[in-house]
Amino acid sequence: MVKLPRHIAIIMDGNGRWAKKHGKTRLGGHDAGMKAMKGVIKECGRLGIEHLTVYAFSTENWKRSKSEVAGIFGLIVKYMRSELAELMENNVVCDVLGDYTSLPKDAVNALDKLKADTGNNTGLRFHIALNYGSRADMLAAAKRLALAAFEAEGADAAEQKARIEEWTPEDFARGLATGGIPDPDLIIRTSGEQRLSNFLLWEAAYSELVFSDTLWPDFTPEEFHRALDEYARRSRRFGGR
Ligand code: IPE
Ligand code: IPE
Ligand code: MG
Repeated sequence: MVKLPRHIAIIMDGNGRWAKKHGKTRLGGHDAGMKAMKGVIKECGRLGIEHLTVYAFSTENWKRSKSEVAGIFGLIVKYMRSELAELMENNVVCDVLGDYTSLPKDAVNALDKLKADTGNNTGLRFHIALNYGSRADMLAAAKRLALAAFEAEGADAAEQKARIEEWTPEDFARGLATGGIPDPDLIIRTSGEQRLSNFLLWEAAYSELVFSDTLWPDFTPEEFHRALDEYARRSRRFGGR
């Protein structure tokens, strides 16, 4: 049995280029991307992977046209509804990383329902990074920690300062959207781009990075296995020797 990651994170990139190549609208590309995502979720469940995180919409993706942004949220609502039965069947637990409360109301409702309905499942934990940006997330974590120190009951300025001095990397990590989730062992990015684009910057400290030239809608379970094989060949040292 090859060495499998506990946590796989994917930057699903290339939907727009795929659409262009196939003479479709950008939204058609995102729709095709959803189908590729379904395949990977299923494969993760089959392999017994513990955590899968997908980058679905970044805090910077709001820069896109209103119609593309609305279309992406529309697709999310559509797939949350159509895939619920299969996610339940596969025992998948779904949650969201990022502040999705500012999304359109039907998307918020669909995500709340998905989280509630799958909350008691015990299989693959599927994390959807939606309106997620690592810098915003780290800043929010820092603010929460600082506020907790200042609001600690009965603490005077010296005690507050002493508490702040005691913060550890683990304390900070607990305050992130990924708090309680192990760091990703493997991060895959498709479409030939080789950057993190504000995804899991803290958590990626020791992740293995695998880049694929394949555009996300063409990313098949076979291609996924190639990334896993590549991961299995890597030697992870975490700074040790
Ligand atoms: C990734 O595909 C999906 C999202 C960012 C929502 P893109 O839409 O970025 O596809 P390209 O990079 O334009 O090909
Ligand atoms: C990253 O892809 C975000 C998602 C896949 C959701 P982008 O296409 O937004 O990233 P850049 O702009 O190429 O860095
Ligand atoms: Mg892109």
